[in-house]
Amino acid sequence: MYLFKQQKDLRLFLETARQKGSKIGFVPTMGALHQGHLSLIHEARQHTSLVVCSIFVNPTQFNDPADFEKYPVTIEKDIELLTGAGADVLFLPSVAEMYPEGLDAPAPHYDFGELETVLEGAHRPGHFQGVGRIVHKLLDIVQPDQLFMGQKDLQQCLVVKHLLKLIGSPAEMIICPTLREPDGLAMSSRNVRLSPAERTNAVALFKALSYIRDNVREGKPLPEVMTAARLQLASSKFEADYLDLIAVKDGNTITYPSSAASAPGPMYAVVAAKMQGSPVRLIDNMQV
Ligand code: PAF
Repeated sequence: MYLFKQQKDLRLFLETARQKGSKIGFVPTMGALHQGHLSLIHEARQHTSLVVCSIFVNPTQFNDPADFEKYPVTIEKDIELLTGAGADVLFLPSVAEMYPEGLDAPAPHYDFGELETVLEGAHRPGHFQGVGRIVHKLLDIVQPDQLFMGQKDLQQCLVVKHLLKLIGSPAEMIICPTLREPDGLAMSSRNVRLSPAERTNAVALFKALSYIRDNVREGKPLPEVMTAARLQLASSKFEADYLDLIAVKDGNTITYPSSAASAPGPMYAVVAAKMQGSPVRLIDNMQV
């Protein structure tokens, strides 16, 4: 695996590869890699001939400075995992390399419309602007044919899909399924920050989402199902930013259906929550 820290070197390398006919797959990450990330690398290997992964903990997308400071960093292990998974290139830039203009310089504004005002957008002000800013820069450097991202961050996938349109990128977005631990907890870099007791209890998120999926499929009225699921989650000591049922319309618009029959597209149960006393905020979603 080739390792690049400077964008000019990576650009040059990829330019040559492109001229030789390589099809470039790109997996952007913030490191602390787990099997979920590796499944994106595997998927990229199926579709493309040169797989580029980036690891960059992007300061501009953290609305909570403590979350940024505590974000796990495991570079040595990440490099081992990426090599084992068959990634061809790792891009590992510094903050100065990605933000030569400085973090406080005026940033571009991306019009993500309503996508940015609900769920994660409502609870993490500025988060998606930061994601847009870094993904735009990374896409400009890597210019991938295909971009691989995980369904666990469903709203981020929709935002980045929108970004591709806004910036006229020809890259195709491939959304890959969420990988789960044996008890159902969605794999996440943040899971390592849970205490053993919190880790055991965290399965309540998966249970709440599964409850919603099963009961909506059985045809129970949505308000009734959601009230019961919210109570269930609260009784497991979770404080939720949201536990909602959404429908994705036209692949990019989030709506809140009042009944399953009126949903304008695929429905997802979505959650973001912290356990009482825990600083770790977990998110997850499940297609209904
Ligand atoms: O999902 C992530 O790890 C990050 O939000 C991303 C897409 C790499 C941008 O920093």
